[in-house]
Amino acid sequence: MSSKMRWAMLISLALVILVIATACGPAPTPAPTAAPAMSSSSAASKPAAGGKLEMFSWWTAGGEADGLKGMFDAYKKAYPSVEIVNATVAGGAGTNAKAVMTTRLFGGDPPDSFQVHAGLEVATYTPDKYLQPLDSIFTSEGWDKVFPKDLLTLLKYQDHYWSVPVNIHRANVLWYNKKVFADNKLEAPKTYDDFFKVADALKAKGIVPFVFGDKEGWESAHVFETVLIGTLGAEGYRGLWTGKTAWTDPKVTEALNTYKKMLTYTNTDHAALTWDGAGEYLLNGKGGMQIMGDWQDGWFTSKKFTDYGWAAAPGNAGIFDALSDSFAMPKGVKNQENATNWIKMAGSKAGQEAFNPKKGSICARTDCDQSLFNAYLQSAAKDWQANALVPSVAHGAAAFEKWATAYKDTMALFVTSGDVAKTQASLAQHCKDNGVCK
Ligand code: GAL
Repeated sequence: MSSKMRWAMLISLALVILVIATACGPAPTPAPTAAPAMSSSSAASKPAAGGKLEMFSWWTAGGEADGLKGMFDAYKKAYPSVEIVNATVAGGAGTNAKAVMTTRLFGGDPPDSFQVHAGLEVATYTPDKYLQPLDSIFTSEGWDKVFPKDLLTLLKYQDHYWSVPVNIHRANVLWYNKKVFADNKLEAPKTYDDFFKVADALKAKGIVPFVFGDKEGWESAHVFETVLIGTLGAEGYRGLWTGKTAWTDPKVTEALNTYKKMLTYTNTDHAALTWDGAGEYLLNGKGGMQIMGDWQDGWFTSKKFTDYGWAAAPGNAGIFDALSDSFAMPKGVKNQENATNWIKMAGSKAGQEAFNPKKGSICARTDCDQSLFNAYLQSAAKDWQANALVPSVAHGAAAFEKWATAYKDTMALFVTSGDVAKTQASLAQHCKDNGVCK
């Protein structure tokens, strides 16, 4: 399938969701007022006089923190007299940060810039009321030419750009410890049958087969999204978010049963561990496999761990489960000029090349120097071009926030309940509650 077609499918999904979001979302607010004052040139324009720049994110772990620091360093180089305030609220996938951000924004105390997933997640922040449209920066920086056309379409909400994309992440990756696999003559599983064979072999050796950490809840939703993709295929999975695939479909039952079985191979302390905490099992060779997004690659890099292998999650070969992080700029920021320069830096080649190799993601821009990236990221860049693209629900790309949260909560509960029928019924109900299923 051509890249144009793949994107077209992703975009048509975004448009369907947009229509639904508009129908179900809050009453429309007035159109945005004048665009913010901003300098017209690039990130390397004249240094600001000084002052602060407060950047808000949830990036505190390993490669996430290193990547952000990489971009801060690039900013500091261009604007040495600006003091950067790194406002972070820990919690993967923005578990805690999003609520704090909403409170700050709606309470009139916005940071100068903040992290938001590209796509409909921005609707959570009532952008026409609280955010500055970035359209004129997109034009002045020539971003309409360096970001893939359809990513631009995905970013547009209510006919404006509200955030600048800094990366593309892949969510459906199976990571494994190469030495553990080699010692036991194992290969990365391609199917669920393979997965359980490998898991049994590891279990027999006293190695945790399937490393898992679900302390924050969203991790379960993340892994299950890959099982849905692996069981229903790209089109079937996409259809779950557009109403084309019924949540009552027997394939969803099958996916829940598969996932339930996978959970019987996890480390017993999973409820006490975050994604990166669980990753320690892979590092010290006490665990075999983990399914996580490619921020795990950044985390391995930050730990100087290189003996890891990767493959698409079982059944996910040829499918790229995508998400993108982006930065927005609220209205009424305390440091307007510094904030504008930050947004420009985030979209620049220098900024993205400083950020992504450490973060464990590929650039949102199409012109980054591939030699800066490790072998995994170079392979991800190729897959991004060649694979069918599907949007991640756990990370804001497939559904608007209310539905994504309901899905995440349900799948967090499933880890302890294991109740397939009840879980499937509530997943189907969420689809109805959000106006997508009849
Ligand atoms: C995602 C985010 C990634 C990474 C991950 C784990 O939602 O897009 O950049 O931070 O959460 O925290």
